[in-house]
Amino acid sequence: MKYAVVTGTSKGLGASIAKLLMEKSFHVIGLARHDNPSLKEAGLPGTYTHYHVDLSDLDETEHTFQQIIEHLKEKPLDSLHLVQNAALVSPIEQAGKQSTSQLVDHVHVNLLSPIIVTNLWLDAWRDQNIPLVIANVTSGAANRSVYGWNAYCSTKAGLDRYTDTVAIEQAQLNTGNKIVLFDPSIMDTDMQGEIRSANPSQFVDVEKFKAYKSEHKLRDTDIVAAVLVDRLDDEESLENGKYYSVKDLL
Ligand SMILES: NC(=O)c1ccc[n+]([C@@H]2O[C@H](COP(=O)([O-])OP(=O)(O)OC[C@H]3O[C@@H](n4cnc5c(N)ncnc54)[C@H](OP(=O)(O)O)[C@@H]3O)[C@@H](O)[C@H]2O)c1
Repeated sequence: MKYAVVTGTSKGLGASIAKLLMEKSFHVIGLARHDNPSLKEAGLPGTYTHYHVDLSDLDETEHTFQQIIEHLKEKPLDSLHLVQNAALVSPIEQAGKQSTSQLVDHVHVNLLSPIIVTNLWLDAWRDQNIPLVIANVTSGAANRSVYGWNAYCSTKAGLDRYTDTVAIEQAQLNTGNKIVLFDPSIMDTDMQGEIRSANPSQFVDVEKFKAYKSEHKLRDTDIVAAVLVDRLDDEESLENGKYYSVKDLL
């Protein structure tokens, strides 16, 4: 049976990824602070199980993933995918005007949680002979400095470098495991709403992002998720360490 664990499934891109994986008969375990009843009731070939977790709490994150691993070890796994999609854009603010607790939450959710979970994941499945696929959701902001997004640009750049480094390790260790990056580009989600609600002193490009919405330039998450899910469902052709950008694939 095909299983996938996806973070940030309560809304946005993560909800679409979960739904489209279920359409392809994946059994999906989703994580977020809020549930997503529409996935449970979707009536698709694959099933949906939700775990409530706050990924800014690292002990809770580790404990929840240990429970998920125990649960999955009882299952007949033909393939096992992990999609680390959950992230925050906030705080949107120049350095020097941010709250420490918001910065701590930001780094925990966007960077430390994927690092801790990847470490647990690779350890848990080492001797199980299951080819693993890990897809980490990144952003163009990893490679571009944007006024007001100092935390977001930094954590996404860190995630890119981490993913690339683990890919090199897995290749040299000949594990057959694949870890990739997926850049979804701009999508019509709550994260974009939050970006548009910033004031120009916090985010100088706010008018440009308001225009993306009014000019219908934000992609639908189902369209973006389909690009990733098609790659995940074709595990053989997925390339370890590759940066998959929706812009190149649509
Ligand atoms: N939207 C864009 O234009 C855009 C562009 C480039 C890259 N991306 C990337 O695409 C991914 C998805 O973004 P999106 O636009 O779909 O975001 P979104 O609509 O804001 O959804 C974020 C998801 O992450 C979860 N999440 C946030 N904080 C969490 C926490 N502390 N613990 C557990 N889960 C948490 C949320 O669930 P709960 O609130 O229920 O916890 C939600 O399910 C992110 O990695 C983002 O950086 C987005």
